[in-house]
Amino acid sequence: MRESRAIAANLARDLRSTRRRRRVTQRQLGDRVGLSQAQICALEGGAGAQTSLETWVALGIALDRPIAIGFTRDVVEPLIDAGHLDAQECTARIAAAGGWRTRFEAADDPRSPSGSTDLRLDREGVIVLTEIWNRLDDLGAAARSSDRKLARAPAGTRVLWLLVDAAANHAIVRRYPGVLKARFPASSAAWVRAISTSIEPPAEAGLAWIDVRTGRLRELRIRDRRRGARDDPASVSSDQEEPMRTLITNGTIVTAEGATSADVLIDGESIAQIGTGLAANGVTADETIDAAGRWLIPGAIDVHTHMELPFGGTFAKDTFETGTRAAAFGGTTTIVDFAVQSRGKSLREGLDAWHAKAEGNAVADYGFHMIMSDVNDDTLAEMDGLVDEGVPDFKLFTAYPGVFYSDDGAIFRAMQQTAKNGGLIMMHAENGMAIDVVAADLVADGKTDPYYHGVARYPIFEGEATNRVIRLAEAAGVPVYIVHLSARDALNAVREARDRGVKAFAETCPQYLFLSLDDLGNGFNGAKFVCSPPLRPADHQDELWTGLVKDDLQLVSTDHCPFDFEGQKDLGKGDFRKVPNGLPGVEDRVDLLHDGGVVAGRITKERWVEIISTAPAKLFGMYPTKGAIAVGSDADLVVYDPNARHTISAKTHHMDVDYSCYEGREVQGRSDIVLSRGSVIVRDGQFTGRKGAGRFVKRAPADHARIS
Ligand code: URP
Ligand code: ZN
Ligand code: ZN
Repeated sequence: MRESRAIAANLARDLRSTRRRRRVTQRQLGDRVGLSQAQICALEGGAGAQTSLETWVALGIALDRPIAIGFTRDVVEPLIDAGHLDAQECTARIAAAGGWRTRFEAADDPRSPSGSTDLRLDREGVIVLTEIWNRLDDLGAAARSSDRKLARAPAGTRVLWLLVDAAANHAIVRRYPGVLKARFPASSAAWVRAISTSIEPPAEAGLAWIDVRTGRLRELRIRDRRRGARDDPASVSSDQEEPMRTLITNGTIVTAEGATSADVLIDGESIAQIGTGLAANGVTADETIDAAGRWLIPGAIDVHTHMELPFGGTFAKDTFETGTRAAAFGGTTTIVDFAVQSRGKSLREGLDAWHAKAEGNAVADYGFHMIMSDVNDDTLAEMDGLVDEGVPDFKLFTAYPGVFYSDDGAIFRAMQQTAKNGGLIMMHAENGMAIDVVAADLVADGKTDPYYHGVARYPIFEGEATNRVIRLAEAAGVPVYIVHLSARDALNAVREARDRGVKAFAETCPQYLFLSLDDLGNGFNGAKFVCSPPLRPADHQDELWTGLVKDDLQLVSTDHCPFDFEGQKDLGKGDFRKVPNGLPGVEDRVDLLHDGGVVAGRITKERWVEIISTAPAKLFGMYPTKGAIAVGSDADLVVYDPNARHTISAKTHHMDVDYSCYEGREVQGRSDIVLSRGSVIVRDGQFTGRKGAGRFVKRAPADHARIS
C-alpha cells in the first residue's frame, strides 16, 4: 500500500511538472489530453490510486482515450507471483478502481514459460490488453493477435494497453520484420512507442509510458487524427517534447570537408535546412541561436568509453548519466561504450546488462561495442545476432591474462566469424604474457610504485602484439581496429599494414598526445595516470600527431575509464599491478585537441572535426546520421567558441572523479551550446538536458573497404 501511494505521488508530481514545464494550466493540459480540469486535478492529486495496478488503470480510464502503458517483465513477474495478474483478482481490482463491470476472457497461463495472457474488459468499448511475453518467439504472435483484436474494435473504442516486454525485445525486429513497421529500438520505453505506432490504433490513440518501478510518468502522448494533423501533434510529454524548430544563424559551419557561413534550421530532431540568410528569407523557428563569431560543428563522438566498467575489484566511477552529461559539457553528443561479457556468461547477458545501465540514464545518445572474454562455439554463434542488433564490433585483448585475455587461436576464431558477419574486431594489443613477467620481476625487486607500471609495459610489447593481430586479421580476411594506440612501435605496425593495403585502422587517445611517462612518477601520485597501454616517453607524441595528420591514425577517442584517486586508485598502494587501470577524459577531448591540435597548428580545424566526429561516425556505422552537418542528419550540434579560454580542473569538471589528469592546464576553445537531436542540453555552462533522453544508437557494420 505504501509503495502504491508512492507511485501515485510520483505520477502526480510528474503531471504537475509536465504542466509547469509546458507552461500550461490544468485546463489547457486537460484540453490537450482530452480530460476535464477536474480529472487532471484528481490525477495530480494521485486520487483513485490504491494499488499500483489501479493507478495505471485509473489513468487509462481517466484519460478516456486509447493509451498504452508499458511494464517490464521484472516488474510484472512479482505482480503475477503476488496474484495481481490473476484473472479474477485483476478483474476485481480494475472494477473496484474504475467502477467498471468487467468480463475476463482468459488465454494462456501467464506462468508458463512461453505464456501470454489476454485480459479483455469489453464493457462499454474498453479493452485492456495485457501481453506477457516470456520468450521472443511469442512476441510476433502476440503483436499479430493484438493487431487483429484492435482491427475488430469498434470505432471510438478505448484501449488500455498493458505491454509486458520480454528481456531482449530488441531482437524482434530482425525476427519479425513484417510485424513492426517502426524502426525498432532497444529500450523498453521505445519498444512501447514503436509497437504503438506500428499497430494502427483506432482513430484516436495515445501513449503513456510509466516506469512502474517508480510510477514516474515518462511520456504522455495523444494522437488525434480528427484534427488532420501529423501523427502526434498534441503532445504532452516528459520523454518527448513537441517538435521544436531551432534556427542557428551567423555561425561558421565547420565540417570535415570545409568551412562555410550558413544558417541551419532544425526541425524536431534533425537538420531540415542549411542555407544563407534563412531568417531573412522568412524561415521561422521557436528559438533562434545567434552563433556569430563561433563555429557550428557536428556533435563529437567518443567511440571508446567505459562507464561503470568492473576492473581490478572496483568499478569505473561514471555512470551513463554522469558520464554522458560530462561528455555533453565537452561537446560530445554520442558515446560508444564497451559492454562486457563476463567469463562463463553469454554475450547476451553482458549486452543486456549494459542496456540496463544506459537506458533511462544517459542524457545523450550511446551505442555499444562488445568485449568478448570467452571465445567458444556459443559466443561465436551469438556474434552474428549482435551484429544484427546494432552492436557490430567486438573487442578482444592480448593483454590482462586471467581477465580479458584471449590467446591467438581465440582471436583468430573471432576474426573468422566477423569475416562472415561483417563485424569489426577491435584489439587491445599489448603482449600481456610478457608484461606480466617483467612486472613480477620489478615487484620482486621492490619496484612497486605506479611508475613501474609504465616501465613494465614496453613499447615493443605493444608493437609486437599490434603487428601480430594485424597479421591474424589479414589471414582471416577481416578489417581490424587497434584501440588506444600509444607507442611508435605500434603505429609503425599499423602504417606498414596500411601501406600493404590492409584494412587496418587505429585510434589514439589524448593522454598519449599530451601526457608522458614522467607523469607516472612522483610517488603514488602517479597512480592517477595508470592506464594500459601506459603513458610513453614524450618523444612518442610527435609521431602520433604525424599519424593523425597522415591518417595512419583515423581518430582520437578517450578510453574514458575514471577511478577516484582516493578509495579506488589506492587499491594499488604497494603494488602497481593492483592500481585499477584507466583515466578520466570524456569531457576534455574536444578542447584538448582543439588547443593542442588546431591552435598549435598541428592539424586543420577540418581535420579536428574529422577525428573527433566524422571519422568515428564513418568507421562505426553512424554516418551520416551522426558526424555530419547535412539535411536529414541528427541535429547533434555544437556551437563552439574557438577563442574562449578556460582552465581544466577537477573543481569544475563534470566527470564523477576526484582528480583531473590535466589539472591547471589552460586550453583555448569551448563548447558553448550543445544540442542533442535538436534539444539544447548544455548552454553556457549549464546542463539543460534530461536524464534518460539519450537513445541507443543501432549501428550498421561500416563498409570498411570504402573507408580505407
Ligand atoms: O587502462 C585502460 N585502458 N582501462 C580500460 C580498459 C581498457 O583496456 O580499455
Ligand atoms: Zn583496452
Ligand atoms: Zn578501453
